[in-house]
Amino acid sequence: MVDPSLPVLISAEKIQERIRELGAQIDADYPNGDLHLVCILKGACFFFSDLARALKREAYMDFMGISSYGKGKSTSGEVKVTKDLDFTVEGADVLLVEDIVDSGVTLNYLIHVLEQRRPRSVRIAALLDKPDRRLRPVHVSYVGFKIPDKFVVGYGLDYAEKYRNLRDICVLEGPPA
Ligand code: IMP
Ligand code: MG
Repeated sequence: MVDPSLPVLISAEKIQERIRELGAQIDADYPNGDLHLVCILKGACFFFSDLARALKREAYMDFMGISSYGKGKSTSGEVKVTKDLDFTVEGADVLLVEDIVDSGVTLNYLIHVLEQRRPRSVRIAALLDKPDRRLRPVHVSYVGFKIPDKFVVGYGLDYAEKYRNLRDICVLEGPPA
């Protein structure tokens, strides 16, 4: 689906090319043991499913629901787990798969939650990173693209639940709320 009214920041082809590179890197970094991919719903849904299929190694797939943003463009600063993992991750290598790191509030919180479950390791893969907006420190091991401080939609990312099914990542103009 293409929405000609929104300017494209990263095309569907560029996204897929980068995901193939990230997949190869992750394959090389995790040679053995259980790898648990954790999708942070809903924004990471397409990145998660494409990244999982870019891997050559075996991986478990699990899902976590989080609410932190409400319906607008800015964070409420509050994070709530709305759907927890199905699997236990004790002793496992966990890779959190997120759409975008913005203030860092969500991932900073989630890393703490998961570390308490005593996995062997926890790392983050984020398709997009807006480093200028960081309020909390977050180490992202696998970054798809660093982007400027613009509000983006598409390829899973939404504004008020709209635009998620655009194939490209597009810029949503207008005053930030
Ligand atoms: P953080 O806790 O501020 O890092 O926010 C992370 C979450 O905010 C992401 O998972 C997104 O759901 C949302 N978010 C941040 N920036 C954008 C954006 O530009 N477009 C759409 N969602 C965004
Ligand atoms: Mg989100």
